Amino acid sequence: MDQAVLILIKPDGLKKSLTGNILTRLSETKLEIVAAKMVRVSKELAEDHYRHLKDKPFFDEIIKYLRGELHDRKKVMALVYWGNDAIKKCRDLAGSTNPEEAESTSIRGSYGRITTGGVYENVIHVSSNDSEAEREIKLWFSPDEIIVDLYATKNIVQKEFKNRVWA
Ligand code: TYD
Repeated sequence: MDQAVLILIKPDGLKKSLTGNILTRLSETKLEIVAAKMVRVSKELAEDHYRHLKDKPFFDEIIKYLRGELHDRKKVMALVYWGNDAIKKCRDLAGSTNPEEAESTSIRGSYGRITTGGVYENVIHVSSNDSEAEREIKLWFSPDEIIVDLYATKNIVQKEFKNRVWA
């Protein structure tokens, strides 16, 4: 079954110059990249992304982590991969959430670590299932930023809409 999945290369992955390695690993899946961009992550976006973990003791730390406050890299790379069985293929390559438990050849097993503060710095995010993928992709991307039609859209007319264009 064709599926879409959100991948984030988190600030530790960017700081460690792992973008190329991670994209090479992900290319083993033969999935198609249908969207990609660099994002400066707002507090609202980070909190919305991790809203299922709001009650966890590590919530504040992972918000700081995703926003780059632990790595002096205030950006993440966001991508949407698309194709057959995309979520399982990408999650298998990523490895377990806890980098110490992740298979040593997986992306998290190879490059992740647990900080002395107890945060899992696990280099990438991969959506966990279809409904989370849809929720997350809609959070991180607008329809026009994705080169295939993944989900239903609607047209709206915005009056007095201010937009920044090239000067
Ligand atoms: P979660 O959504 O449970 O895992 P995954 O990213 O594998 O889908 O957790 C979100 C992030 O929170 C995870 O990538 C790393 C961090 N985290 C911790 O720092 N400590 C923890 O005990 C857990 C479960 C997650």
